[in-house]
Amino acid sequence: MRLPKFPIPAMQFLTSLTYLSSLRIFAEATGNNLDDCKCQPSQRCWPDSHAWSRLNKTTNGALLKTVPPGIVCYQGPAYDKEACEKISEESKYHTWITQSPFNVMQPGWNGNPCPPTGGAEANGTCNTLLGSPVYVINATNPSQVEAGVKFAKKYNIRLIVKNTGHEFLGRSSGAHSLSIWTHYMRDADFTESFKPKKCSKAKAHSAVTIGSGMQWKDLVLLAHPHGKLVVTGGNPTVGCIGGFMQGGGHSPIGSKYGMAVDQVLEINLVTPSGQYITANECENSEYFWALRGGGGGTFGVVTSATIRTYPTQPITVLSQNFTLTSDDTDIWWDWMAYVHSDIPRISEAGLMGYSFIFDNGTGKVGWAAALTMVNGTAEEASDILKPLYANLTNGKYKDHIIYDQQTYTFPDFMTYFVNFFRAERAGSTAVLPSRLLDARALTEDPTFFAATLKKMWSPYVGAYLGHIVGGPGVAQYKNVDMALNPAWRRTYNHFIAATGWDTPDLRDAVVDHARNVLEYNLRKLAPETGQYLNEALYGSEGWQAANWGSNYPRLFSFKNKIDPNGVLYCFNCVGSEKWVESANGSLCRASWA
Ligand SMILES: *[C@@H]1O[C@H](CO)[C@@H](O)[C@H](O)[C@H]1NC(C)=O
Ligand SMILES: *[C@@H]1O[C@H](CO)[C@@H](O)[C@H](O)[C@H]1NC(C)=O
Ligand SMILES: *[C@@H]1O[C@H](CO)[C@@H](O)[C@H](O)[C@H]1NC(C)=O
Ligand SMILES: *[C@@H]1O[C@H](CO)[C@@H](O)[C@H](O)[C@H]1NC(C)=O
Ligand SMILES: *[C@@H]1O[C@H](CO)[C@@H](O)[C@H](O)[C@H]1NC(C)=O
Ligand SMILES: *[C@@H]1O[C@H](CO)[C@@H](O)[C@H](O)[C@H]1NC(C)=O
Ligand SMILES: *[C@@H]1O[C@H](CO)[C@@H](O)[C@H](O)[C@H]1NC(C)=O
Ligand SMILES: *[C@@H]1O[C@H](CO)[C@@H](O)[C@H](O)[C@H]1NC(C)=O
Repeated sequence: MRLPKFPIPAMQFLTSLTYLSSLRIFAEATGNNLDDCKCQPSQRCWPDSHAWSRLNKTTNGALLKTVPPGIVCYQGPAYDKEACEKISEESKYHTWITQSPFNVMQPGWNGNPCPPTGGAEANGTCNTLLGSPVYVINATNPSQVEAGVKFAKKYNIRLIVKNTGHEFLGRSSGAHSLSIWTHYMRDADFTESFKPKKCSKAKAHSAVTIGSGMQWKDLVLLAHPHGKLVVTGGNPTVGCIGGFMQGGGHSPIGSKYGMAVDQVLEINLVTPSGQYITANECENSEYFWALRGGGGGTFGVVTSATIRTYPTQPITVLSQNFTLTSDDTDIWWDWMAYVHSDIPRISEAGLMGYSFIFDNGTGKVGWAAALTMVNGTAEEASDILKPLYANLTNGKYKDHIIYDQQTYTFPDFMTYFVNFFRAERAGSTAVLPSRLLDARALTEDPTFFAATLKKMWSPYVGAYLGHIVGGPGVAQYKNVDMALNPAWRRTYNHFIAATGWDTPDLRDAVVDHARNVLEYNLRKLAPETGQYLNEALYGSEGWQAANWGSNYPRLFSFKNKIDPNGVLYCFNCVGSEKWVESANGSLCRASWA
C-alpha cells in the first residue's frame, strides 16, 4: 500500500497517528474503481437532457439552467445595450447578487465567467462553462435538496452550495457543477422553550428555527417584535446559517454572547449521501460537532437550524478616531502597538467592535473604530477608553496624534443594527491574509508589534481591519466541544491586512505578496494561534492547521467517513487536499488519494 504523499508543506503538522491511519483506511476502502475526475458537460458520463428533465420533475420544476446575466453585454443575439447597462449597475450591489441564482460576490476566483461591461458590446465570449454552475436547484424544501445531492452523487458531478454568495474564497461557485441555491428557504419560527429532538436531558432555550436562506437583517427585523436579539454577523445580507455560521461566524456582539456557532441548538441537513437528518448534541452528534466550525459546503447542505435568542438590549456605539498630525510615522506605529496592547483590557471591560487603519487618501495614516457596548450607557462606554486617551495626551504621543470621539445610544439591538450595517458592494476581489491575535500577541512585545505593522504597510494594503469580536463572550464556550478553531477561544482581535485585485493580471502578484509578506509577518506575531477560515488568504499556507488547529484530523476523518467520494468539494475546505482543480475547470482526485 502506498503511503500518501502530503501535497501541502504545512501538512507536516499532522503527524498524529489517528490522522495517518484515517488516510490509510480511506485508501484501502475506495481502491481504484471510481472515475478519477468529476464529470464535465462535454463528456459521455454527463447526464442527457432526459436525466436533467427527470431531476427537474423530482424537484417540482425548480431546476434552472445557468444563463449568466452578463450575456446581454456580449456580441451575439442576446446583446442588449440597455439591459447591459442595467445589469452592470445592479451587479455592483450585494443585495442583487444574493437574489441571483448564478452570481457570487467575488467571481474572480472562478475566472469571472461573464462580467458585465457597462453597456459596450464585448467582443470576447461570455464563457458560460467556467466558474459558474451549469444547473442550479432553486430549493425551497429539503426533498429538493435530497434529489440534487443524489443526482450529483449518481452522475459524479461537482456539487456546490450557494446561499448568498457572500464569500471571499469562491467556495459558492465552481465550474461544471450543479449548485443548490438555498436563498428561498426563509421560514422563521420563534419559541420560548426549544428543546433539541430526542434530547430529554437538554435545557430549554428561547430560540428561533430558521430556513437556510434567512439573512441577518431580515431576522433582526423579525426578532424585534418578539423583544429578542440574535447574535448576527456584521452585514445585513449575509446568510445566517450558511458558510457564515458553519465557519464560526464572528459577531459585533460576540464579545458578550459568543460566536454564531455558539448559538446553534440543532441543525437539519441533507448529508453528502442524500439523507435528510437532524443533528444535535444527542443525535448525529458528530455532524453537529463538524458543522459548528468545520466550514460550509463540506459536511452536508444545511436546510434549517435553531439558534438561541436573547432579550434585546440597549446598545451604545462609541465612534472614535486617531489621526497622525506630524510626519513621524514611527511614533504612529508605536502608538498603534500601544492601542493594540490595550485591546484585551478594553474587551474584558465590555467594549467590542471593529477598527480600521487606513490611508486617508493623502498618504496620511489614520485609525477609526466603532466600538459597541451591550446594555451600557455612553458614560460607561467612554470610561473604558479614558486610560487610553490619558496616555495619548500625557505621553510622548501628544504632539503627534489627536483623537476624536462620539457616542450614540440605541434603545434596542434592531435600531442599532439597521443604522450601523449597510450592504457591501461587490467588485474587486478581496485578498485577506489574517491572523487571530491573543493576549500574548497583543501585549507581550509592543516594539515587535509596531515594527511588524510598519513593515507590512505598503500600497498593496488597503487597510488593516481589526475585529475585536472575541474576548470573554467567546471564551465562555471554551469547554464546548465543536469543530471551531480552538484558537478563537483566546482571541481578542481577528486582524486582517486587507489587499485585493481588480483585474486578473494583478492576481498572482497580489496573492504572492499577501502570502510571502503579509501572511508571513502576521504569523510571526502569533505563531501559536490560527486564522478565521471565512476571512483568510485564498490558498493560505498550511490552511488545515491554520483554520482548524488540533481539530483538523478529526474533521478530515469524519469527512472521509461520510463523503469518501467527495460529493461535496470546495476550495480549501476539509478534505479538499484530495482533489486537484485545474484552470480549465477539471476536478480530479489527487494521485495519492
Ligand atoms: C424545469 O421545469 C420548469 C417548470 O416545468 C420549467 O419552467 C423550467 O424551464 C425547467 N428547467 C429546465 C432546466 O428545463
Ligand atoms: C468591439 O469591437 C468593435 C469593432 O472592432 C469596437 O468598435 C468596439 O469598441 C469593441 N468593443 C469593446 C468593448 O472593446
Ligand atoms: C426561485 O423560487 C422562488 C420560490 O418558489 C421563486 O419566487 C423565484 O422566482 C425563483 N427564482 C428563480 C430565478 O427561478
Ligand atoms: C488626511 O489627514 C490629514 C492629516 O490629518 C488632513 O490634513 C487631511 O485633511 C486628511 N484628508 C482627508 C481627505 O480626510
Ligand atoms: C443591564 O444593565 C442593568 C443595569 O446595570 C442590569 O440591571 C441588567 O441586569 C443588565 N441586563 C443584562 C441582560 O445584562
Ligand atoms: C500609559 O500610562 C501608564 C500609566 O500612566 C504608564 O505606566 C505607561 O507607561 C503609559 N504607556 C505609554 C505607552 O505611554
Ligand atoms: C473622524 O475623522 C473624520 C475625518 O477626518 C471626521 O469627519 C470625524 O468627525 C472624526 N470623528 C469621529 C468620532 O468619527
Ligand atoms: C484540464 O487541465 C488538466 C491539467 O492541466 C488536464 O490534465 C486535463 O486534461 C484538462 N481537461 C480538459 C477537459 O481539457
